[in-house]
Amino acid sequence: MNRINIAIDGFSGCGKSTLARQLAKAIGYVFVDTGAMYRAFTFLVIKEGQNRDPISAVINSDPRIEFNEMTEVIINGQNQEKAIRGIEVANRVSEIASDIRVRNFLFNLQNQLIESKGVVMEGRDIGSVIIPNAELKLFITANIETRVERRYHQQGGDSQSVTRGEFKTNLLTRDQKDVEREAAPLKLVAGAIIMDTTFLTEKEQLKMAMCLATPKMNPSDLLGMVSPK
Ligand code: DC
Repeated sequence: MNRINIAIDGFSGCGKSTLARQLAKAIGYVFVDTGAMYRAFTFLVIKEGQNRDPISAVINSDPRIEFNEMTEVIINGQNQEKAIRGIEVANRVSEIASDIRVRNFLFNLQNQLIESKGVVMEGRDIGSVIIPNAELKLFITANIETRVERRYHQQGGDSQSVTRGEFKTNLLTRDQKDVEREAAPLKLVAGAIIMDTTFLTEKEQLKMAMCLATPKMNPSDLLGMVSPK
């Protein structure tokens, strides 16, 4: 069986992480949520407070950004999964992610993770910059109402203080910044397969992704189907 790399890109809140995590589990691959790495970096920038150049300060501190076995984010040895998912980080992350110094810093970390193949990596520039030779590239999308609803419930539904309107504004603003920025913008690359998850359950999304990944991992099975006996 071929060990391949799978690149998953798309807009915020389309279910990329859920799909990538489930797909990686189903095929025994490593899941990498690069958005979490940008969030972790943003968390550190916010902690720098009044520093005149917080991005350089964070880079110079050479932070350790890692994942535990539940793929939660560990920053300098501390579990910060909850903090990086909050609205404060969400409202700053696209601005921080557009800085070329931040991208270069995380590029190196992400490159180390794909060296041995067998990775399902999701983000915005995975198919275009991080793994341009990925054997399978998916571009995930969904309509905005569905994305708001999913994010709202993911963050605690009616029990939290952030409104649907705030989530909508945050998602749309981030989409725009991620598509329009100069450094590694989100784009649909040649060869990527578009998957609209608006009307798909998580189970259906996984099934679809498995159908697309399996022939890439077992190309000889595919050949057997078309070659004469
Ligand atoms: O996937 P997410 O919503 O957790 O990502 C948070 C932000 O990080 C997103 O608004 C853009 C940025 N990002 C990026 O610029 N490049 C990536 N590969 C992943 C995320």
